[in-house]
Amino acid sequence: LLEQARAELLTLKARPEFEAAKARYVGPNGALTACMKQMGGLPKEQKPIVGKLINEVKTALAAELDATLARIEAAELDAQLGPPIDPTLPSPDDHEGLRHPLTQTRDLIAATFRKLGFVIAEGPELESEWFCFDALNTPDDHPARDMQDTLYFPPATRATETTKKADEAYVLRPHTSSVQIRTMLARKPPIRIVAPGRCFRRDTVDATHSANFHQIEGLWVDRNVTVRDLKSVLDSFVREIFGATAQTRLRPSFFPFTEPSFEMDIKAPNLGRLSDRWLEIMGCGLVDPKVFKNVDIDPEQWTGLAFGMGIERIAMLIHGIDDIRHFYANDLRFLRQFA
Ligand code: PHE
Repeated sequence: LLEQARAELLTLKARPEFEAAKARYVGPNGALTACMKQMGGLPKEQKPIVGKLINEVKTALAAELDATLARIEAAELDAQLGPPIDPTLPSPDDHEGLRHPLTQTRDLIAATFRKLGFVIAEGPELESEWFCFDALNTPDDHPARDMQDTLYFPPATRATETTKKADEAYVLRPHTSSVQIRTMLARKPPIRIVAPGRCFRRDTVDATHSANFHQIEGLWVDRNVTVRDLKSVLDSFVREIFGATAQTRLRPSFFPFTEPSFEMDIKAPNLGRLSDRWLEIMGCGLVDPKVFKNVDIDPEQWTGLAFGMGIERIAMLIHGIDDIRHFYANDLRFLRQFA
């Protein structure tokens, strides 16, 4: 029976034929069912032997039927798809795509830090308050929460799943510093990451502000990381991007999550009309021990440095762009200059 089925199934080409054959073998009036019905008339000692045999044939038949159906379905699909496409043929469309200048700048910055041993990390754009503020040592009534001018979700949308404290709101992250927290919760030091991504603030749009912009965050946690490491890492980065003769300086500043905190300024001869000025390019500092405590890293054993910069700002300096809105206008005359 099995031999006969095998031979027949091989010749089947379409589904109706297949269904008919299937019924003939395993259907209620099929050959296998008929065998089973005859079992009643057999002598007692033969029953288990024949029963076993029938079961084996049944299993084998089921497998054959499955394989045949799969073969017929694949053939049907092939027929629907038509002849194969050759993706190596030249396209009739001669518009070559190019990467957006912000993407190019992001990749350039990331590649520079990769050479210094940093790997890429990511975090969500929709965050809870704890990751954006609390864990970063920014208490409820701290002016920085206002300074950030954060976009909050309505109170009805509470962050129940990721809650670290009662009644936490969701926000659109106002900076990528939340990825510092996510990274330090996910893995133990040593850590050396850069986290590029989209950020949101309640800013009024003008030549240098956008409610939606991009940052790249850096975090290095290790034994004995010092301000000297901060300066040397950032100096290497600046010289890669703005040329070997670029100067840098660290100016004292304040962020709730770093101590001490600085702004880094640069002065670079190849920046045209901006070459004689100190230009602020990023915030940075050493990770505040309170931040380490919030993510269960022992500040007696580990120290860290952190920095964060706006990708738009760096792209504008590199390319001499004077209005941030160009990045989002999708004007091909602008975009094609970055081929
Ligand atoms: N998060 C800060 C900002 O958005 C930048 C920063 C990052 C400062 C890391 C210090 C350390 O302005």
